[in-house]
Amino acid sequence: MSNRMVKLARRPTGMAKREDFTIEDGPVPEPGPGAFRVKIEYISLDPAIRGWMNDAKSYVPAIGIGEVMRSYSAGIVETSNNPAFRPGDAVQGLFGVQRYAVSDGQRVIKVDTSQAPLQRWIGGLGMPGWTAYFGLLEVGQPKAGETVVVSAAAGAVGSIVGQIAKIKGCRAVGIAGGAEKCRYVTETLGFDACVDYKGGRLAADLKAAAPKGIDVYFENVGGEILDTVLMQMNLFGRIPVCGLISAYNATSVPEGPKNLRAVLTQRLKMQGLIVFDWANRVPEAIAQLGAWHKEGKLAIREDVRDGGLDAFPDVLNLLYTGGNQGKLVLKV
Ligand SMILES: NC(=O)c1ccc[n+]([C@@H]2O[C@H](COP(=O)([O-])OP(=O)(O)OC[C@H]3O[C@@H](n4cnc5c(N)ncnc54)[C@H](OP(=O)(O)O)[C@@H]3O)[C@@H](O)[C@H]2O)c1
Repeated sequence: MSNRMVKLARRPTGMAKREDFTIEDGPVPEPGPGAFRVKIEYISLDPAIRGWMNDAKSYVPAIGIGEVMRSYSAGIVETSNNPAFRPGDAVQGLFGVQRYAVSDGQRVIKVDTSQAPLQRWIGGLGMPGWTAYFGLLEVGQPKAGETVVVSAAAGAVGSIVGQIAKIKGCRAVGIAGGAEKCRYVTETLGFDACVDYKGGRLAADLKAAAPKGIDVYFENVGGEILDTVLMQMNLFGRIPVCGLISAYNATSVPEGPKNLRAVLTQRLKMQGLIVFDWANRVPEAIAQLGAWHKEGKLAIREDVRDGGLDAFPDVLNLLYTGGNQGKLVLKV
C-alpha cells in the first residue's frame, strides 16, 4: 500500500501543463496523537487552484514547490486517534490532491451520505455552495423583485446563486457559454433567462433578459462580461466579486474595467469576497442549502471524471475552457 500524491513541480506560465506537476508514490501517512487518516475518494477541482500555484500576494500562501497540491476533497476515515472522528466517518476538508491524508480535524466537516452522495459535499453542499450562499445573501443583499445576474451560471457556484435568487423572489438571469449550458440554466435550474456570451450579442441579449436593469451582479468571470454588465447596472446596485476566472491563466496584466464610471454614476457597491470569511457560519449554510435541496428547490449536479490522480492536470484545465458541466470532481 502506498500514497499517490500530486505535487507542484514548478510555477506554471499560462495554463498549467503536466510538467508543472510531479505525480509520485510515498508511504501511507500514519496519524499521530489526536489525528486520523482519511482515504480520499473525490478531489474537488476549483478555479482558485490555479491562483494558489502563483507566488503572488493573496488570501492564502502560495503552494510551495514540492508540496502536495492543495484542494478540497472528500473521503472516509480509516484509522483515528481523535475521539471526534471514528473509522467509517465520511468527511470533507482541505486534504490535498493525494490518496491518503492525515488531519487533526481542524476545519474538517463530517458529512451525512444518507442525505446526499459523498461527492456533493465538495460541490453544492460544500465550499462552492457556501460561497454562493454567503456571497449572494451577505454581499449581494438581494431583495424580492430585484434582478440578479450571475456569470458562469451553469457552474458550481453560479448555479446555486441563481437558484437562491429565485428562492428570495428575484428575477434570476444567468450568463453562460453555449446554448446547451443556457438550456440547462433555464430548464433545469429554473432561472428566468440565460444569455450565451459566446453568441456575440451580449449587451443586447442581456438587455432583453434583464429589461428593468440589473440590481445585483454576482461576478465570477471579469473582463468583457463585467464591462458589459456595468453599463446595465441600476442605481445603488451591488456587485459581489467572487471570481475573475477569465484572467486566471493570463500571462500579462489583464486590462482593467473600462466602464468603471458606472460605479460612480450609479453609486454601485463592489465588494470582493472569500468564502473563508464565513468559516464560523458554515453549519448554517449546510443546514439551509441541505433543506432547500431536500425540498426540491435546489438542483445540484456534479461532473465526476475518472482517470484517478494521474488525470489531475488535464481535468483541472477543463474549468478554464468551459469543459465542465457542473461541479468538477475527480474520482480517485
Ligand atoms: N471567492 C471565493 O471564495 C470563491 C469560492 C469558490 C469559487 N470562486 C470563484 O467562483 C467562480 C466559479 O467557480 P466554480 O467553482 O463555480 O467553477 P465553475 O463555474 O463550475 O467552472 C468554471 C466555469 O467558468 C467559465 N469560464 C471559464 N473561463 C471563462 C472565460 N474566459 N470567460 C467566461 N467564462 C469562463 C466556464 O463556464 P462557461 O462554459 O459558461 O464559459 C467554466 O465552466 C470562479 O471565478 C472561482 O474562482 C470564488
